[in-house]
Amino acid sequence: MKGIILAGGKGTRLYPMTKAVSKQLLSIYDKPLIYYPLSILLLTGIKEILIISTPDDIANYERLLGTGENIGVKFYYKVQETPRGLADAFILGEDFIGDDNVCLILGDNVFYGKDLSRVLWNARDRKVGATIFGYPVKDAREFGVVEFDRSHKVVSIEEKPKQPKSNYAVPGLYFYDNRVVEIAKNVKPSPRGEIEITAVNNAYLEMGELNVELLGRGMAWLDTGNPEGMLKAAEFVQVVQDRQGFYISCIEEIAYRRGFIDAKQLMKLGEDLKMTEYGQYLIGIAKEALKHE
Ligand code: DAU
Repeated sequence: MKGIILAGGKGTRLYPMTKAVSKQLLSIYDKPLIYYPLSILLLTGIKEILIISTPDDIANYERLLGTGENIGVKFYYKVQETPRGLADAFILGEDFIGDDNVCLILGDNVFYGKDLSRVLWNARDRKVGATIFGYPVKDAREFGVVEFDRSHKVVSIEEKPKQPKSNYAVPGLYFYDNRVVEIAKNVKPSPRGEIEITAVNNAYLEMGELNVELLGRGMAWLDTGNPEGMLKAAEFVQVVQDRQGFYISCIEEIAYRRGFIDAKQLMKLGEDLKMTEYGQYLIGIAKEALKHE
């Protein structure tokens, strides 16, 4: 399975913060926002990842993430000239996807919680159809929203409905089989002028091949859409990390635990950052691992 991170857009809702810097490069506590969705792809076990961003920002992502070799994966980069919609990821990514299935994650989505790896592996292992998620929120008007009938069967996905038919929002994490490329090419722009991911999901629903997995209370899906959301997300990360001593979305740690790199390489990555707590954290894990080798 291939992975795509969509990290473009204008970020106007966060102006002036994002006037000169891409939103997904802003920090959530101690790491850039894009580390959080990237860590989800790594947890899923995906090692080939396409990062899509704007003509102005793509070089900064390359500077931040490089080839991926240092964490045992391969990053590819692609420019999206204009933010014409989330489904554009599959059109821009057609050659990259090739004959594979693909997971798309939005570069500003933060997930954390119990059983997350199991949820991700189940979605990855479903070879045919699409898997998306439903997450309960107080106000679903800003999102894709799942509509159920009386027997809890999904009957449609609505994009930003004025009157949501449920409180289950669709987070920015989607798994598709290879047909998604052709489906995306046939999506017509919505009234807001975008080729919507919701149209792709409805196409799978019509084929009877859309799986909607509902996520429970044990899972955090955090909003980074405005300054308050970013602050709250940062506080959440700080509180959990400080209390447990485990980092959230530390890409080097995940690469080690998934077997993409060995303890020696993890030590090297830690040494490169040893002036920070982040680096010391990596060194601590590597030391412990080397003791048992
Ligand atoms: O976060 C989940 C929601 O994401 C879903 O519930 C909605 O169904 C889905 O449409 C999307 O809604 P948003 O209004 O949050 O999408 P937005 O236009 O803000 O784009 C999400 C991210 O993707 C954002 O960081 C910018 C980036 N992006 C967006 C577009 C339209 C791109 O890189 N390229 C694009 O063309």
